[in-house]
Amino acid sequence: NREEKLKYIREKIRPFPDFPSKGIIFRDICPILKDPKALSTVIDLFEEHVRQTYPDVELIVGLDARGFLFGPLLAQRLGVGFILIRKKGKLPGPTASVGYTLEYGKAEAEVQEDAIEPGQKILIIDDLLATGGTLYAACELMKKQKAQILGCLVVIELTDLNGADRLKPSPLFSLVHF
Ligand code: PRP
Ligand code: ADE
Repeated sequence: NREEKLKYIREKIRPFPDFPSKGIIFRDICPILKDPKALSTVIDLFEEHVRQTYPDVELIVGLDARGFLFGPLLAQRLGVGFILIRKKGKLPGPTASVGYTLEYGKAEAEVQEDAIEPGQKILIIDDLLATGGTLYAACELMKKQKAQILGCLVVIELTDLNGADRLKPSPLFSLVHF
């Protein structure tokens, strides 16, 4: 059942204290990817939620880099396309960009200008929500492109940092909380 599936995934996430800097507990998702059962369970749970809640979603938008590990698998399951938001300087052709800060640094995110048609219904996916800086920036970038943001999906939510508040009114769906 669902509780057992969530417990299975949670136990696969490894904590690394003081990485990449002192005071941060890094939540490592590599063991999920190494275990095909854990990875397919993650996608099963996302798929179930999206089919129930957002049956009209048209595109999954994934964040560089760890959103790319889950996004295309989910998009394939749903039979919709996948779009990449990348860190600055990686995408060819005309791009739109936005700057942001995250739990341990700052960066700039870009999308190809022709990736999304105005009004297209999208879900944004990443591995983890910490301060919410990254997903907030992705939402701003998608608004700039006139996408209709249905919501955000993450495997892990670090609840103490209140990142979900920054995403409002966009709803956040998360599987595991620390
Ligand atoms: C991590 C993580 C999220 C973001 C969350 O990515 O994968 O994208 O930080 O932090 P926030 O909620 O405080 O913004 P990172 O920028 O380290 O890049 P990576 O995926 O390339 O490792
Ligand atoms: N991205 C931002 N904060 C993180 C954390 N604590 N663990 C893994 N990825 C992160």
